[in-house]
Amino acid sequence: MPEHDVIIIGAGPGGYVAAIRAAQLGLNVACVEEDQVLGGTCLRIGCIPSKALLESSERFRELKEEFAKHGIRAAEITLDLAAMLQRKVQVVSTLTRGVEALFKKNKITRYLGHGRIDGPGRVIVSSSREQAELSAKSIIIATGSKPATLQGIELDGNRIGTSTEALAYSEVPGHLVVIGAGYIGVELGSVWRRLGAKVTVVEYLDRILFGLDAEIAAEAKKLLEKQGLEFRLGSKVTGARVKNDQCVVDCEGAEPIVCDRVLVAVGRVPNTEHLGLESVGIELHKKGYIPVNEHFATSAEGVYAIGDVITGPMLAHKAEEEGIACVEYLVTGYGHVNYDAIAAVVYTHPEIASVGKTEEQLKEAGIDFRKGAFPFRGNARARTLGEVDGVIKILADAKTDRILGVHILGPHAGDLINEAAAAISFGASSEDLARTCHVHPTLGEALREAALGVAARSINI
Ligand code: NAI
Repeated sequence: MPEHDVIIIGAGPGGYVAAIRAAQLGLNVACVEEDQVLGGTCLRIGCIPSKALLESSERFRELKEEFAKHGIRAAEITLDLAAMLQRKVQVVSTLTRGVEALFKKNKITRYLGHGRIDGPGRVIVSSSREQAELSAKSIIIATGSKPATLQGIELDGNRIGTSTEALAYSEVPGHLVVIGAGYIGVELGSVWRRLGAKVTVVEYLDRILFGLDAEIAAEAKKLLEKQGLEFRLGSKVTGARVKNDQCVVDCEGAEPIVCDRVLVAVGRVPNTEHLGLESVGIELHKKGYIPVNEHFATSAEGVYAIGDVITGPMLAHKAEEEGIACVEYLVTGYGHVNYDAIAAVVYTHPEIASVGKTEEQLKEAGIDFRKGAFPFRGNARARTLGEVDGVIKILADAKTDRILGVHILGPHAGDLINEAAAAISFGASSEDLARTCHVHPTLGEALREAALGVAARSINI
């Protein structure tokens, strides 16, 4: 029976990063992955292919709608969807092969097959071809999540599907109905809208992007509507089915919507099935995730869990942080994740990014805060880019001035937010950001201006 120091089940961003860090720390590492390709949902059917399509579709839209403003005219602009999808496939395969190379470099043993815990320190790997039994002192579960669905929805893997299908439609749908105005709904809704589909997003709540700062989400909704996305808020979908060559979406108290395709984007659920958790006595939380302590230890000795299978936002970089902290704790006795400094980005146009607490959370917690905001229309670089929509908002503690939250709607928000995350992780005050000289002309100056705004001394507004 092959013996390892640690067996990691799952090679997504949580699992593969944990595997590399563990190998760097001198452990003999096994990683079990049932898909032929390494990288997990994020690389194969999530973050990476969706960002590739977001990029391509945005360029298509810009060429049609924005380039003339720059004095660039194109006679005929046509869409080659097959080529666009092929480019996405290539981006994905370059990155997944990169993970394979990293495994080789770090001498990580990869097992192809489904991993199942079989009592303390044992994992059985089974594939259609073979079965292997492995043993190790520690096991890390990093099996990720899969799309949730709703009762009454008949997923047919084609017309009615999840993000997996929506990353590969072979033609632009005439009318796409998206169920759920969360991250996936607005990102993939944007892709197909830009490529020409009529897109209706049906959302149960009375707002989009629940969890993000409400003011920023409301602004984002206006901009997305300008781009042609249609939102039906406060509308509960109760079913969806294929009828003849079309789909019918039933909504509570409203006429059914007839459309060409349906994207179900109502959240994700942890992958915990057939993992043999019962063999070590692990019981799931009632919400379906694996309970762990602050060191990612489950109730079973030697079994740890990280990423989407435990509580918290289902984000690739959160899983990576946890993977690193988990193995560092195993080897050194110390490992920590600062959840306040984990940012989130929605890759719409413009992007939406946020780190730390929202206004709503601070109010609910009774924390006094001051707010500085700066619109991109006051930023010189945004003007030169022709990207003046959006705002940066900084929330700082009223007494200590420590930055508690930063929320950005605007160009390259996803890159700008990293400076804010660094500031929060160093415990910076808004004064610290405001006194940091920012290069001119850059979008980052808007962050500094928002920090200046906390003390009502922004310059360019
Ligand atoms: P989500 O949880 O963000 O949003 C789902 C939405 O569906 C909610 O607003 C909910 O109210 C709505 N909903 C639920 N039942 C409904 C019904 N019957 N009728 C109408 N609306 C209904 O989930 P989403 O967008 O599927 O994303 C899943 C996960 O993937 C999230 O945790 C997200 O963090 C992650 N993700 C992150 C991305 C990023 O970082 N850029 C991109 C895509 C996904």
